[in-house]
This record gives sequence, structure tokens and C-alpha cells, in this order.
Amino acid sequence: MKVTFLGHASFKIEEDGQIVYVDPWLTGPTSPITIDDVDKADIVLVTHDHTDHGFVEGREICKKTGAYFVALNELANKAGEQGVENIHTLNIGGSVNIGGVMVTLVQAFHSAGTGAPTGFVVRFPSSSFYHAGDTGVFSSMELLGELYPMDLVFLPIGSYFTGGIHQMEYAVRLLKPKVVIPMHYNTFPVIEANPEKFKGMVETSSPGVRVEILEPGDSIDLTF
Ligand code: NI
Ligand code: MN
Repeated sequence: MKVTFLGHASFKIEEDGQIVYVDPWLTGPTSPITIDDVDKADIVLVTHDHTDHGFVEGREICKKTGAYFVALNELANKAGEQGVENIHTLNIGGSVNIGGVMVTLVQAFHSAGTGAPTGFVVRFPSSSFYHAGDTGVFSSMELLGELYPMDLVFLPIGSYFTGGIHQMEYAVRLLKPKVVIPMHYNTFPVIEANPEKFKGMVETSSPGVRVEILEPGDSIDLTF
């Protein structure tokens, strides 16, 4: 699995010949690329409609590439009304198989202008990831981790709009992934956080779990 951090909560994930974008806020202050740089995509996942999660950019990527736009019913329908041809209008707990990639929509505890906030569990043939979206910690993360053994999880650590390092250190204990990538911090002053401190906390309380800290534009090849 190749993961490229596009800043904030935005990632490009390449695995088994599929290209997946999650929350592609490509007009954000920390994005290393623009929509013009994207010429191939298979699946675009958007967790909720707050600007910093890239609904508009995701919609444009789908129009340009023919990728599937996958989100909560109300949000995916909005993309459809705005010209996206391929949409999947999931709701919480629901899954869809897109070219061998199983995408499951899961809960998140946050707010949204359209529908509700969500996270995604994505299972490729070879590996899996969970993108929590914007959320605080919740105890059914343990259930999600049991239902869907996770190779990689993306967790927000910036606090203020989401949980911070203290909550997400506990989230790792519930989810039991192999690798954690922190996100949603240091983009704005109010979400300042120290990822090295988070890494130390996790590696102490969850021995064997690896925390990878990425800078916007960084790519990492992960083998699980
Ligand atoms: Ni949000
Ligand atoms: Mn956000």
C-alpha cells in the first residue's frame, strides 16, 4: 500500500492497482497538489461536507476521472445533482464493492451541514484502512476493530474540532491496528498538536503498533 499525505485529513492511497482519494482538500493551505495534478482516480471518499474535507475538489476529481464518489446518502446525492456520474449513496453500516475494493461507511461523532459526519473502512484484497474522519473517540471503535481488522488507521489528533492526542491514544488501544497515521493537526493555530508526543504515547500503551508521521507531500510504502 502506498500512502501519500496531501495535508490536513487528505490522503491518496494506492493498492492493488486502485487509486483512492480520501477527503481531498486540494485547495487547502497545506495541499502539495491541485486538482489539475490529478488525472487518474478510481474512488473518492468524502467523510462530511465541511470545507476542509474537500467535497468540491472530490466532486471535480470524479467529473474529471470518472471515479466513484462515495459518501453518506445526502452528500453523495448532492455530488450526483452537481454532475458526478458515478456515485454510491451509502448510509452508516453499509458497504459497497467497487472493483474488488470493499468500502464501508461508519459513524463519526462530529457535525455536518448535509446529512451526518462519517468515517470509512476500506478493504482492498491485500490490506485495509480506516479513516476516522472528524470525530472524538467512541467506545464502538473497539467493535469496528473486531469486525474489520485494520492494517492502517488515520486518526485526527488536533483537538478543538476533533479528539486530541489523549483521546486518540486510547482509540488506538480500541482499534488495534498495525500502523497509525495522525492527521487533522497543525493546519490552523487552534489545532496545534505534537505528533511526536502522540507517537510516544501510542508506542508505550500499544506495543507493536507503529506510528508514521508524514509531512504534506510525503509518500510511504507500507507492507503489513
Ligand atoms: Ni469537520
Ligand atoms: Mn475537519
